[in-house]
Amino acid sequence: MYSLATILTLATIALAAIHSVDVGEEGETFNPQTLTASPGDSVVFHLYSPHNVASSAYSSPCNATSSSFFSGPYSGTSNGAKKFVINVTSTDPIYFFCGVQKHCQDGMVGGINVDQLDQYKSAAKDVKKAEASGDVRGGELLGDSALASLSASASASSSSTMSMTSAATSSTASTTGSSPKSTGAAVAQREVSGFAAGVLAVAAYLV
Ligand SMILES: *[C@@H]1O[C@H](CO)[C@@H](O)[C@H](O)[C@H]1NC(C)=O
Ligand SMILES: *[C@@H]1O[C@H](CO)[C@@H](O)[C@H](O)[C@H]1NC(C)=O
Repeated sequence: MYSLATILTLATIALAAIHSVDVGEEGETFNPQTLTASPGDSVVFHLYSPHNVASSAYSSPCNATSSSFFSGPYSGTSNGAKKFVINVTSTDPIYFFCGVQKHCQDGMVGGINVDQLDQYKSAAKDVKKAEASGDVRGGELLGDSALASLSASASASSSSTMSMTSAATSSTASTTGSSPKSTGAAVAQREVSGFAAGVLAVAAYLV
């Protein structure tokens, strides 16, 4: 019998997902507040005025250091036209917060692969001053065209709702277009999707 970890690793190889987090769209909250992501996945933070996002150690809430990721202040994001994208490289927990004024202390915190967000949030209340300054780091500010190619490459390595959408788009394009190359790409696309579906089916069977 395969371990769950083995199955998850198999699934991870087939499935590179793009996750979205809204940063302050509805006030001082991240939506979703927590998410589960695998190595190879990307997380796209959609920044709404005046918020930003930075990571911190679990033991030091609201404190972005040089090894944290930081989106830069909202004014550095071309008025929301850009999104901050990070690559998930391990399953280690990542705690993040908004560094504006007292938002972190007020509970504007979230996490990736975390299981102690309540404790982090509660410790954040006692922080005197949030620290999130300096240059954009640990991720990239991307415009919509760069994000579109990101989701296209995720679909090439297959899966996720976004890639299913672009797979559908590329087969539509190949139906209407006459280029044999694009037809080939669409076929390859379907085969990759089929492979992912197969891995999921095997994983479901083994579980
Ligand atoms: C933030 O983290 C740095 C590096 O670990 C540390 O030196 C500093 O004291 C921390 N600041 C606060 C307010 O905890
Ligand atoms: C994330 O991964 C993409 C694709 O491999 C790469 O182009 C980008 O530079 C990476 N971003 C960071 C911040 O490492």
